[in-house]
Amino acid sequence: MNDSQHFETIAIRTQLTQTHYREHSAPLFMTSSFTFEDAEMARALFADEMDGNIYSRFSNPNTSELIKKICLMEGAEDGFAVASGMSAVFSSMAPFLKTGDHILVSRSVFGSTLQIVTNLLPRWGITYTLLDVKKTDEWESLILPNSKMLLLETPSNPALDLVDLEWASKLCKKYNLLLNVDNCFATPYLQQPMKWGADIVTHSATKYIDGQGRAIGGIIVGRQSLINEVRFFCRHTGPAMSPFNAWLFSKSLETLALRMDRHCDNALKLAQYLQQHPQVESVAYPFLPSHPQYALAQKQMKAGGGIVTFVIKGGLEQGRNFLNAVRGLSHTANLGDARTIVTHPASTTHSKLSEQDRLSVGILPGLIRISVGLENIQDILFLLEEAFNRSRK
Ligand SMILES: Cc1ncc(COP(=O)(O)O)c(C=O)c1O
Repeated sequence: MNDSQHFETIAIRTQLTQTHYREHSAPLFMTSSFTFEDAEMARALFADEMDGNIYSRFSNPNTSELIKKICLMEGAEDGFAVASGMSAVFSSMAPFLKTGDHILVSRSVFGSTLQIVTNLLPRWGITYTLLDVKKTDEWESLILPNSKMLLLETPSNPALDLVDLEWASKLCKKYNLLLNVDNCFATPYLQQPMKWGADIVTHSATKYIDGQGRAIGGIIVGRQSLINEVRFFCRHTGPAMSPFNAWLFSKSLETLALRMDRHCDNALKLAQYLQQHPQVESVAYPFLPSHPQYALAQKQMKAGGGIVTFVIKGGLEQGRNFLNAVRGLSHTANLGDARTIVTHPASTTHSKLSEQDRLSVGILPGLIRISVGLENIQDILFLLEEAFNRSRK
């Protein structure tokens, strides 16, 4: 594969070597293990003296195809595919931390990431500091001599706050920290954190990489030396992605650019509609000029992404009423699907946090998150208008 090719071509043409069946579409390798031609080959493979598949917990042609594609898209040297976005997040941290280390983590990361950092890592003597994405000027003063990693998401979920990746990477280099970015919301089509200096990038493939809400998966990519550590960790702890899911995700990537263009186009139109709606208090979308970090969004993202959040007038109760009034759009705990999904974080995904903790990450009682799908935008707007009308007291 020629890596000077354009994103869409890489997404479509990065493929396994053709087998003797001369298939056009990549075949599925549902096999737990691979045979050795002789004892010497088995020895050399296990001794890492030759490349090749041994066992699908270590590698498989379908996961290799997916990894190669995402590496080309992200500008990474190597990667490892795992069973979920959360195993990607965990496997991007665990190999680099030991008892006595400290990690800096944006408070605005996915809830399960916060659980790992605040409830699991401390059991192994790894301490943490949570960072406020609205106060990045304080971050440098919170770095400790034993800090090893800075972990963040941009845009954040669900408040859609951004972190300047170029600035964060300079800060990390100054203090010898690894910069680990969860790029799930933006996808490699809209943002490549490694271009700005990130060391490790993770994805929940469950979201836009699949794009159709069918399978759970994750991927970690980065510099070769770091991925060697990740591979050692994953090879022996066993979170490997199933070959079937890798095959599915790799096929889905063929349409990622097309899908993201449409998600972003629909999302911008929806944000503009919400901005002038009398029942809406405020709207957040990175590519709306009213977003406080609009200039940064334009610098580091190709477009604003598929997620729009807004605050409905009337707080928690009106948020719940609105969700109950929605018809024809999905009410489910996922995002990045071809189908538009509406959620009310304060009463669902973030209901276990205290009100104060919710407010600290921008989750107001009336905040509604819309993962804007690929339906015709006129139909999405019509269904939302109906929900506004039905929920009006
Ligand atoms: C930003 C982000 N990272 C990680 C995850 C976890 O991914 P998965 O559900 O595939 O484990 C999610 C899931 O919503 C997410 O939104």
